[in-house]
Amino acid sequence: MPVRGRADPYPDAMGLRSSIANGLDRTVGPATRRRLLHREAAVRRSVINFLDVEAKAKKRRAEQKAAEPKPTPEQLRAQLIERLGQRSLEGTLNQEGLKWARNDPYAPHPPATLSRHEVLEQLHRLLAPRTYLEIGVRWGDSLGLSRTRSIGVDPEFKIRNELHCDLRTFKTTSDDFFERPDALEHFEGLPIDLAFIDGMHLSDFALRDFVNVERHCSPASVVVFDDMLPRNHLEGYRLRRTVSWAGDVYKVQQVLRRLRPDLVLLPLNTKPTGTLIVANLDPTSTVLADALPEVTRQLTSDDPQTVPDDVLNRSIAVDPEQLLASDVWPRLAELRDAGASEGYRDLWVELAQVPPLDPVEAAPASQH
Ligand SMILES: C[S@@+](CC[C@H](N)C(=O)[O-])C[C@H]1O[C@@H](n2cnc3c(N)ncnc32)[C@H](O)[C@@H]1O
Repeated sequence: MPVRGRADPYPDAMGLRSSIANGLDRTVGPATRRRLLHREAAVRRSVINFLDVEAKAKKRRAEQKAAEPKPTPEQLRAQLIERLGQRSLEGTLNQEGLKWARNDPYAPHPPATLSRHEVLEQLHRLLAPRTYLEIGVRWGDSLGLSRTRSIGVDPEFKIRNELHCDLRTFKTTSDDFFERPDALEHFEGLPIDLAFIDGMHLSDFALRDFVNVERHCSPASVVVFDDMLPRNHLEGYRLRRTVSWAGDVYKVQQVLRRLRPDLVLLPLNTKPTGTLIVANLDPTSTVLADALPEVTRQLTSDDPQTVPDDVLNRSIAVDPEQLLASDVWPRLAELRDAGASEGYRDLWVELAQVPPLDPVEAAPASQH
């Protein structure tokens, strides 16, 4: 049909085709004419296919993909751990294509008086850190608590909160961040006064983060880890099985206790999955870095994980309110701001005198 208002570019094409058809009917007969028409259509189709470069490329890609070796179950698992650790997975399937497992009942433990964010908020207030490094930013909830010069590192963050700090962000993994020569440039030579390690929930990642962070700390610095007290074994699996996931980061504390008795470790009974404050840091120590290959092999044991009882019932933890009420914090900030290079250890040891929780007073799981 000619387009209305435009001249038909081929006015005689139909007429020409029917004259040829009539002529062929007379000379070779209708049956041969139909065969010739089919042949002509086939030739036209193969010319179109020949010219259709994109279709050919698509076919080639599909063939290549089909010929590629399939990833082994181990490779698939590693890819999925990597991917799933970086997202919120509410309402989705887990890496094995299963719906999220119903969480096991939580092990009985004393009710927590503060959340991890409340602790972090108070640490910002009490320490007035000159610099703050956060690994694992996600929506910016914890970053929103900072009022100081800050660096945020996360390969997939999407900040949705108002921020109140002088911030530089790095959209990358913490491992890649620490490789960068300009990683800590924003701090203009100051050490990291306060760090929050809340990135990938796997012990080998969190331990590497600590090793890298400590190198840029001073004896006055404080490092906070999240997710150090999972509430049941399933929450502590390396392969994420539950919506609320702590991962096996709790193992980092065992490693630090074993290899770095010089550190002061203060596990806190916070909501939901416990935090750990690490102090008396030594940026010159290479003990952990040297042990990393061997320790990593031990940390990355396959699920199921068995979370120790004193982690589950939080008998190793202290009450965060009691710890934050100590007058050590302002004394510490004063010493740091006066430029003192020593005198911190005694303060940290004093802080470590806060007694751990009594597991006998543990509340039943239903209270949480
Ligand atoms: C629990 S969320 C952080 C929550 C945030 N700290 C808060 O409290 O508001 C964990 C974040 O770690 C990030 N993450 C995962 N793997 C990481 C890695 N290798 N390095 C840095 N961040 C990582 C994820 O993208 C995710 O946004």
